[in-house]
Amino acid sequence: MVKYSTVKKKLKIEVDRATDNGLAHLTHYFQNNQNGVSQHYKEPASSYLTSLADELSLVEEPQMQLFLPMKFDVPFPPPTEYDFTFIDLFAGIGGFRIPMQENKGKCVFTSEYNFHAQRSYELNFGEVPFGDITKLNLDIVPPHDVLTAGFPCQPFSISGKMKGFEDTRGTLIYNVFQIIEMRQPKVVFLENVKHLIHHDGGKTLSIIIKDLENLGYIVSWKLLNASNFGVAQNRERIIIIGHKEKKFDFSKLKTKPKPVLKDILETEGNFEYLNEPYTIIEDHKVQESGLIFIGYRNKKIRVAGVRPGTENLSRVHKQPNRIYSTEGLHPALPSQESSGRFWIYHEGKVRKLTINECYRIMGFPDKFKKISNTAELYRQIGNSVCVPMIREITKQIKQQLL
Ligand SMILES: C[S@@+](CC[C@H](N)C(=O)[O-])C[C@H]1O[C@@H](n2cnc3c(N)ncnc32)[C@H](O)[C@@H]1O
Repeated sequence: MVKYSTVKKKLKIEVDRATDNGLAHLTHYFQNNQNGVSQHYKEPASSYLTSLADELSLVEEPQMQLFLPMKFDVPFPPPTEYDFTFIDLFAGIGGFRIPMQENKGKCVFTSEYNFHAQRSYELNFGEVPFGDITKLNLDIVPPHDVLTAGFPCQPFSISGKMKGFEDTRGTLIYNVFQIIEMRQPKVVFLENVKHLIHHDGGKTLSIIIKDLENLGYIVSWKLLNASNFGVAQNRERIIIIGHKEKKFDFSKLKTKPKPVLKDILETEGNFEYLNEPYTIIEDHKVQESGLIFIGYRNKKIRVAGVRPGTENLSRVHKQPNRIYSTEGLHPALPSQESSGRFWIYHEGKVRKLTINECYRIMGFPDKFKKISNTAELYRQIGNSVCVPMIREITKQIKQQLL
């Protein structure tokens, strides 16, 4: 068997050498060479390989068969036997893919257009995602059992008469609906931020549900908190699940007691300590969410526009000024900032989480390989999903719907 790492070296497979999804076709072909899906990628994969022959000054045209069967020496290789197939849209760094594969799901298509996320994905799964979903000819998406997507939330302009999903044209969920209409997966598994519930006065969510129903799905949704699935983070996300015949029953999900942050911390490392004055609140309380707001940075007290008697509190309005105790949970890791982490109070000192700790409180296994760009790593993990929560939902999807 040829190792993926050897083929990588030979072909100098690097994401920045991907042209027109050539590397995506090739790696998707490699990952599916033993199932019917391979036919889907064969032709473009083969032409890409031929184009590499010139580039790499190879005397003979490389044949794909030379590389097969392949051993994927990556942290999360495709399962050798599988019970169902799935596609990974807006794939990020593969927060869906890890638990889907653990549950014997075989990924047959993935799309993600961010270069750094594509690099992380390839490093961990041995497959390069296809790029911008809005620019793809969606015929390349093979039939599949489960469609997963943590899609970016965008406003829709409602034309008045709701005519199928045409109303969502120009948004990313429109492309998801197109794939659903074309391939009719058994299960649709969507994830989004809590804000989707209130977005545009609730219209965005109700349109998504209505469109899925019009596409023939029975839909159920629920706001779930990762802290109920063994993760030391207060992270609420909306999960939407559709199936052709059955309604997904969220009450069957098995929850766990909330863990605490101190249990997953690294004992040594290059910690980033707070080196400016701060205040610790003596009579702090555990909030209902499990967060313990224990102190704040001594920033300037605001007076203008602040109610008399609450001047001290004005410094804690800004999240980056707050300090949370490691005896409780960590607030949701933000996706927008590259390094604007929260402060944590642990064993008498105030510091930020390390990058490894961030990946842990998202439930990523320690074997997950990280690219060298730290700012990107923080951004990617804040954008991702909590793996243990997706794992439990996937188990239930398998039991109830597949
Ligand atoms: C909320 S994140 C999803 C993260 C993912 N669930 C994970 O586990 O890491 C949304 C992702 O969609 C990607 N994205 C946004 N627009 C896209 C497009 N037009 N085509 C492909 N990917 C896109 C972004 O780069 C981002 O990584």
